[in-house]
Amino acid sequence: MWMHLSKYICNFIRTLTILVVLLYNNYILEWELDPHRIHSEGLPPLDRERRFCSHLGKNPSPEEALEERYLLESIAWPEPQPWSTSSPLNQTSDPAHSLFTILPAGGRREWHVGDQLEALVIMNDFQGFPKSHGGDFLLARLHSPELKAGVAGHVLDHGNGTYSVIFPLLWEGSVWVDVTLVHPSEAVPVLLRIREEHPDRVLYKSLFRSGLLSETTMCNLCLPTNQQPLCNYTDPHTGEPWYCYKPKQLLSCDTRINHARAGYQKDLITEKEALLFQSGVNLKTRIHAKASDSVTVLPKKKDKQEVESNSEKAAPIRTTASGYYFQGSWRGLGGVVMHQFNDPTAITQCLKGKMVYMYGDSTVRQYYEFLTRFLPELREFNLHSPVSTGPFMAVDIPHNILLKYQSHGPPISWTPINVSHLRYVANELDGLAGGSDTIVVISIWAHFSTFPVQVYIRRLRHIRRAVVRLLDRAPKTVVVVRSANLRAQSLQESLNFSDWFSVQLDGVLKAMFKGLNILLVDAWEMTLAHHHPHDIHPSPPIIKNMINTILSHVCPVKN
Ligand SMILES: *[C@@H]1O[C@H](CO)[C@@H](O)[C@H](O)[C@H]1NC(C)=O
Ligand SMILES: *[C@@H]1O[C@H](CO)[C@@H](O)[C@H](O)[C@H]1NC(C)=O
Ligand SMILES: *[C@@H]1O[C@H](CO)[C@@H](O)[C@H](O)[C@H]1NC(C)=O
Ligand SMILES: *[C@@H]1O[C@H](CO)[C@@H](O)[C@H](O)[C@H]1NC(C)=O
Ligand SMILES: *[C@@H]1O[C@H](CO)[C@@H](O)[C@H](O)[C@H]1NC(C)=O
Repeated sequence: MWMHLSKYICNFIRTLTILVVLLYNNYILEWELDPHRIHSEGLPPLDRERRFCSHLGKNPSPEEALEERYLLESIAWPEPQPWSTSSPLNQTSDPAHSLFTILPAGGRREWHVGDQLEALVIMNDFQGFPKSHGGDFLLARLHSPELKAGVAGHVLDHGNGTYSVIFPLLWEGSVWVDVTLVHPSEAVPVLLRIREEHPDRVLYKSLFRSGLLSETTMCNLCLPTNQQPLCNYTDPHTGEPWYCYKPKQLLSCDTRINHARAGYQKDLITEKEALLFQSGVNLKTRIHAKASDSVTVLPKKKDKQEVESNSEKAAPIRTTASGYYFQGSWRGLGGVVMHQFNDPTAITQCLKGKMVYMYGDSTVRQYYEFLTRFLPELREFNLHSPVSTGPFMAVDIPHNILLKYQSHGPPISWTPINVSHLRYVANELDGLAGGSDTIVVISIWAHFSTFPVQVYIRRLRHIRRAVVRLLDRAPKTVVVVRSANLRAQSLQESLNFSDWFSVQLDGVLKAMFKGLNILLVDAWEMTLAHHHPHDIHPSPPIIKNMINTILSHVCPVKN
């Protein structure tokens, strides 16, 4: 009862806030452009002068500013410590010198299902001395290979060079602890700096064409306003900014044909800074156990169960994990009873009569590809779209199933996409009637990792408002939001797409959609808990588990 009432109040406040917020215009973020570093695959370099974009549009509303501050605080990283360039590695975190220890549970080395397992990580530097401050980016996973079981660990930074890693114990048998250093704390300020100073490190271009004339110019979320005339493609509905330099020839801004990635800025970091990003040394590198990295988990204690249900104080298993793998299948801990959709007819039955709209980046396109491959009766309609960009559409006429994929708008960073296919997710959602036959799946994160977090917050805020509007007019619409996932990291990849950027976006996304009636597919944990290597495009078994999660939510098993 109280739960419902407080949910109702929450929704009411949220709606009120959104109404207020809607009265204000959006503002455009500004940042420094550094044209000196731009090497743009054969295009003329941007203007030679380093400058700031002038402040465009309106300031954020007080509510937006407050929310933004709260979100930024929620993902704040420990203050960087001074870093000595004269001995760049010596005092930085070294996985090879660092260790973790599995701590006894309540003084005993005995663990039962329902307990927690705690490991203590002690970080040392390259000279073997203990670190005295926190901020290392660690990932932890508990797993049992023969059971194909795995769960993500929760890492707690004590701020003094030690970290606790907590795992819920959810199955019996031998379990192993994996701890990985993704980045030493010293690498994080480097990432922070390039994120703030080089938000334009992925370059974008557009082709303008009319008759025999054609010209390509550079584009971005923000360009200097006083150097060259701009074409303003700010979205009239959401206010999302996008600009291109106006073609020099007699081509109007209306003659923009496509949008594409134009390359990357180079030389963003110094040689010494690059030492902080060495694969197998201090970039995504395992930390070893001091003694054993494994324990045996015994069956759940009987008396413990009774104590828990009888006593008000004893909380049920408190776990921050959103789910875990067992026998290779993901089991969500959020309430949805998982059901395996192993044969195509079960999926077809579930999706019968439904329209499935997928919006976002290639990580949701994978769902589209999975379903079109797996369901023989789902026929792809040829829209003559390029393979990576879409849009795509597939239909199963006998079962009245429609599947559509539409990429999100700029800053999508791909091979050329027609401007007519550049759509903002929020606007697409506004174009849906919704209802119990409509499933919406959204995944938008990977192309935002090179921008300041504020850009992502603003984008998600627009999407959230559109989701709220959709659920208001058609409450039975199923809305699924997929979070960010882990990916492979080399030096170059991590400068553009570090998991550290992703974990920040992931934190924002999860906070943004909290409390809404949506299904969150926790791709972060689903890729962390799985034994397959991290990949921007998670492997088919992970995708299948994500699809199962969605379908279990769409078609719950009736008791
Ligand atoms: C671009 O257009 C938007 C809205 O149409 C406006 O708010 C913004 O100031 C314009 N930008 C420039 C640089 O004129
Ligand atoms: C860094 O460590 C190495 C050996 O661990 C040592 O030889 C060297 O002098 C150290 N450099 C500085 C500047 O402390
Ligand atoms: C680090 O902090 C934790 C939590 O405050 C404390 O328990 C631990 O003793 C500290 N360790 C060191 C080495 O200072
Ligand atoms: C994009 O637009 C051009 C014309 O401007 C057209 O020739 C091309 O087929 C379009 N591509 C797609 C995928 O729609
Ligand atoms: C990432 O950025 C670097 C420059 O720092 C660049 O050389 C590299 O090609 C970029 N792209 C990828 C996919 O790593």
